[in-house]
Amino acid sequence: MKRCNSLIDAGRRQFLTGAGVMTAGAAAATVLPAEARAAEPTAALVKYPANRLANVKDLKANEPLDVAYPDEDAPGVLLKLGTRVPGGAGPDGDIVGFSTVCPHKGYPLAYSAGDKTLNCPGHYSRFDCEKGGQQVWGQATQNLPQYALRIDDKGDIYAEGVDELLYGRLSNVL
Ligand code: FES
Repeated sequence: MKRCNSLIDAGRRQFLTGAGVMTAGAAAATVLPAEARAAEPTAALVKYPANRLANVKDLKANEPLDVAYPDEDAPGVLLKLGTRVPGGAGPDGDIVGFSTVCPHKGYPLAYSAGDKTLNCPGHYSRFDCEKGGQQVWGQATQNLPQYALRIDDKGDIYAEGVDELLYGRLSNVL
């Protein structure tokens, strides 16, 4: 037990040291030129040929519609979430699409309507569909690839790209 307490103390010291470094970093950030501070990170969007995935009439609120994009070997879902979200398409900005292959080790993800997440049965990673597929728990080291969607005036939904590397592919090139 004594050994454990020592380690806890050491951990606390390291944490406090880290806090000091972070404070110094924050202070340094305040003297950056305005142009550098204004720079926004850009999405790593990779364009694929546009594919028609469905029509808005095919979607029911908060129910996943299985699709595949950019090819038949890449399963995914379309979702109409009911609230405007990042990357959302359509008149209400609430239609999104994601790969359903877990970016950790490729297990198929399942949708949970209760909290609008995609969940992995492999090692339990969870991805928030209302936050652009952001990983909210688990083993994966990247967010879920989200489709860039376009909806035409007939309500047809097209995917035109993906914003993360698809699992199992060395690059986002067909
Ligand atoms: Fe999904 Fe490991 S395969 S968390």
